Amino acid sequence: MPQLPSHHTFSSPEAASEALASEISNLVSSRAAEGRSAVLGLATGSTPIRLYAELVRLHQQGLSFSNVITFNLDEYLGIGKDHPESYWQFMHSHLFEHIDIAAENIHIPDSGISEEGLEEYCTAYEKKISEVGGIDLQVLGIGRNGHIGFNEPGATPDLPTHVTELNKVTINDAADSFGGSENVPRRAITMGVKTILGARRVVLLAFGNSKAAIVQRALTPGVTAEVPATYLQLHGNTAYFLDREAGAQLD
Ligand code: PGA
Repeated sequence: MPQLPSHHTFSSPEAASEALASEISNLVSSRAAEGRSAVLGLATGSTPIRLYAELVRLHQQGLSFSNVITFNLDEYLGIGKDHPESYWQFMHSHLFEHIDIAAENIHIPDSGISEEGLEEYCTAYEKKISEVGGIDLQVLGIGRNGHIGFNEPGATPDLPTHVTELNKVTINDAADSFGGSENVPRRAITMGVKTILGARRVVLLAFGNSKAAIVQRALTPGVTAEVPATYLQLHGNTAYFLDREAGAQLD
């Protein structure tokens, strides 16, 4: 029986983000000392912004990312990487422009892949993850509907990186940043639950009142496709790093 995810409730989102940045920093430096790479799975959204700010600060204090390889969880389809809401833009403006990671070590699903090329592209993305030895540490957020990446309610646990449809809650949550729900892309490329469960360590960040109910649900024993984050109960090395508000409904 795998171990249920652990949860750590911090005094603030900053404190939780610093704790995860410190874990990442230790991984990156210990790998560098062994002459090895560290492979990070990264997430977007409002939640990890403080984590990336902290990693930039640690870089300014001397932490090098020259041995780091990253794979982002997901990307909208059909908007192009120059779109202000693309995850490509998000990652570059919050993290990659400010650290010494090599451009060829950054992997973000490409929002501009043609329809005919999508299947092959997803297979190649998954293959690149395996070729570098798999993901050491995957950072996740959680949607109010329990999604992880764009693995929306109903997602099965057996899929690798694939194309998916966005759920209504997800579209509504993104409506403001796209200037109306009609402008939100309907599809995305996402790592699948299988990809995420393949990471050796997973840390899920959740902050604020709006996440309290879903965090409580995701940590209640019992796996259901209706709450994709419950699949993390099958992982064995997952931790939830919460602020007090997101952890308020836990015992
Ligand atoms: P958020 O999104 O960080 O903007 O709350 C999290 C998610 O949908 O995974």
